[in-house]
Amino acid sequence: MTNSTKQIHLAAHFPGVNNTTVWSDPEAGSHIEFDSFRRFARTAEDAKFDFLFLAEGLRLREQNGRIYDLDVVGRPDTFAVLAALSGVTDRLGLAGTINSTFNEPYEVARQFATLDHLSGGRAAWNVVTSWDAFTGENFRRGGFLAEADRYSRAERFLRTTWLLFDSWRGDEILADKETGRFLAEPGAGAFDHHDEHFALSGHFTVPRSPQGSPVIFQAGDSDEGREFAAATADAIFSRHGTLEAGQKFYADVKGRLAKYGREPGQLKVLPAATFVLGDTDADALEQAAVVRRRQVSGQTAIKLLEQVWNRDLSAYDPDGPLPEVDPLVGEHTVARGRASVRMHRDPLATAKEWRALAEAKKLSIRDLMIEVSSRQTFVGAPETVARSINDLTQRDAADGFILVPHLTPGGLDGFARTVVPILQEWGVFRTEYAGSTLRSHLGLD
Ligand SMILES: Cc1cc2nc3c(=O)[nH]c(=O)nc-3n(C[C@H](O)[C@H](O)[C@H](O)COP(=O)(O)O)c2cc1C
Repeated sequence: MTNSTKQIHLAAHFPGVNNTTVWSDPEAGSHIEFDSFRRFARTAEDAKFDFLFLAEGLRLREQNGRIYDLDVVGRPDTFAVLAALSGVTDRLGLAGTINSTFNEPYEVARQFATLDHLSGGRAAWNVVTSWDAFTGENFRRGGFLAEADRYSRAERFLRTTWLLFDSWRGDEILADKETGRFLAEPGAGAFDHHDEHFALSGHFTVPRSPQGSPVIFQAGDSDEGREFAAATADAIFSRHGTLEAGQKFYADVKGRLAKYGREPGQLKVLPAATFVLGDTDADALEQAAVVRRRQVSGQTAIKLLEQVWNRDLSAYDPDGPLPEVDPLVGEHTVARGRASVRMHRDPLATAKEWRALAEAKKLSIRDLMIEVSSRQTFVGAPETVARSINDLTQRDAADGFILVPHLTPGGLDGFARTVVPILQEWGVFRTEYAGSTLRSHLGLD
């Protein structure tokens, strides 16, 4: 190993609510029961992963006016799950996605400071900025924030929580049993904060936590999102997992750091990555095709197409050609609460592109949806996958990956058993945790 060899960061994304999670597999278990979380976390910790990651969905998705139940439905509360996991793990970082629009800084700061205490310094917060009125209807304030304002609120929100975390220095608790004095300083935790989004004052209830504040993740991809990450985050959860797109994203976000007085090493870039392993590369390729067909059933293909077409397409045959009608442009009424809707802002252009692709390759609706929605990042025998992960990391397309298995809770087992030892043998992934905090695993100390 040379001095310039980067150490790879690996994290485990608990499979979530979209069609990459194959809930119908005979080996799939619950995504709600604690035993699934415990098994998944233990596998990640035994493999010396940096952290476990929980995404978040604040409203059940709907399609054609019904709860969308082709994917798993339901997600328990992030803090409760991570707090419970802190009791059955020792070193694994615990990262939770918590929205900065529909929450309030005092509560979120209190929850993360508590999680950081309970876990001995392993908490991380993925700050997401979903703002839509559909999600907001679940909350007391509805759709109160314009899209253009969500990063300004996020930035103020984060800075307010930092103020709360810093309201305790860490040396205030005396707990002198002889004299009966508990605090060395009676003003501990005092804060008084006013900005255009928040006005709060008082004393913060949680004394300074082991990391001082949770590790901060960011996940939005817009220019504003990237700027927010460059100014405030310790790591980015990105969707750019290929060499070219990854290198471009990596250079872009790291290039934004200098103006905030930060160094490239202070912001880790961690793309989401799915994987399919096999005994040989050919075997893995075959299995990957099977997984894709399970992820995109005929019904799922129609529903995915409806999300772009913005029409009821239930009368169409998934094994037949694309609809002859065009997408309905305008207000989106068919699918609600889905990020994919925002990814196709020009549905007519998407339809044109897909029609050309379907015609050129003679694809049915289902085949096409399998092709255009595939995000299989790593497919191969363990050594092939290990080589790709290392190559992408060393060539600055990433600092590591957040792995998203397609099975709960056993989807990480094969990776932990076969790929991790290869990376360890090459000296690019830890064999033991060096420290006890997540900041230390990520080299952010
Ligand atoms: C890889 C990735 C993962 C995300 N995960 C979540 C999530 O779990 N929950 C959520 O509410 N939003 C999630 N988001 C949405 C972002 O927080 C943000 O609202 C969205 O990307 C739009 O922001 P942008 O305009 O900066 O891209 C995710 C975004 C990305 C790119």
